Amino acid sequence: MPNPILEPVTLGDLRLANRVVMAPLTRSRSGEDGVPPDFAADYYAQRAEAGLIISEATNISPQARGYAMTPGIWSDPQVEAWQRVTRAVHRRDGRMFLQLWHTGRISHPDLHGGALPVAPSAIRPEGQAFTNDGLKDHVAPRALETDEIPRIVEDYRHAAACAKAAGFDGVEIHSANNYLLEQFIRDSTNRRTDRYGGAVLNRLRFPLEVVRAVTEVWGGGQRVGIRVSPATTMPGSTPLDSSSMDTYGAYIDALSQAGLLYMHGIEGVTQLTRESPDVDFASLRRRFSGAYIANNQYTLDLAEQALARGDADLFSFGRPFLANPDLVARLRTGAPLAEAPKQYWYGGGAVGYSDWPAMHAAG
Ligand SMILES: Cc1cc2nc3c(=O)[nH]c(=O)nc-3n(C[C@H](O)[C@H](O)[C@H](O)COP(=O)(O)O)c2cc1C
Repeated sequence: MPNPILEPVTLGDLRLANRVVMAPLTRSRSGEDGVPPDFAADYYAQRAEAGLIISEATNISPQARGYAMTPGIWSDPQVEAWQRVTRAVHRRDGRMFLQLWHTGRISHPDLHGGALPVAPSAIRPEGQAFTNDGLKDHVAPRALETDEIPRIVEDYRHAAACAKAAGFDGVEIHSANNYLLEQFIRDSTNRRTDRYGGAVLNRLRFPLEVVRAVTEVWGGGQRVGIRVSPATTMPGSTPLDSSSMDTYGAYIDALSQAGLLYMHGIEGVTQLTRESPDVDFASLRRRFSGAYIANNQYTLDLAEQALARGDADLFSFGRPFLANPDLVARLRTGAPLAEAPKQYWYGGGAVGYSDWPAMHAAG
């Protein structure tokens, strides 16, 4: 019996080889100028058997940067480097979206020539930032002036246009994991008193302006997805919203109306647990009219059960893709999965990145 997870499926007007999505994975191997290395094309092409690849989170502007050695999508050299990646993926009949990122307060002055990172409000995250000189304590960010916010929306518009020029099949707006968009959504990180703060609809204003700008560039929502993580507290030990179900319910209703292709949900706390006592993800997910990509600690078994129940359309795998370029083939055959030691997750070169062997070569 063919496994329905591994059979072709249609997502909007895209024909995908299977329901397995490569989740976005930051690998911190780009240059200071945010240009991905040549061997990023090998890495992504090796994983092109996935029905859909979501790129690592990619900064929309210099201001968006929060981690050393992460790629960007605002300059010509970055677009040219990403073109090499998308060509390599398309040559193997893969499909690839770019994840659009602004880290907001999860950053450090070292990444901004000494200037403070920006955020809705000046609230310091717990923990440390990944800088060129290693881990450094987070600082209190600078609260954005009201008239700076529309300029960030324009940065998203520009980045979305650059992603199109780079040959991506679509883009995913990173509205998860407590980066800038989610910092505006949650009342724990947004204490503003202007039209971007206070009531839920005000807190959603900036993320929804971003959604509008990005969908305008892509000719509607059918090549635009969004990632959400209502129950995630990392990074920054960021408290949940005081009324997650109401806030994210209103958000997801608006995203649905915007006609987005898919919602990519991190169920539970990213990487850590699928449990989330304060967030009933299943009921949130049902408010979204487009496709649903489920994520967090999925196995093939879990995905099969969720598909059979009609709980999700596609399933994204993050850590399993690190050391298993041919993850889809391994799931098909039940072959064992390799694990990437943490030392290879962030930073370094091709070693531990684009040199993981496929099964038949694994010996
Ligand atoms: C090394 C690493 C880098 C990650 N980078 C990103 C990222 O750039 N964007 C994002 O939305 N999530 C990122 N995540 C979260 C993953 O996309 C995914 O949500 C998480 O690993 C849980 O899925 P899994 O259990 O299949 O690994 C990252 C996770 C890991 C382990």
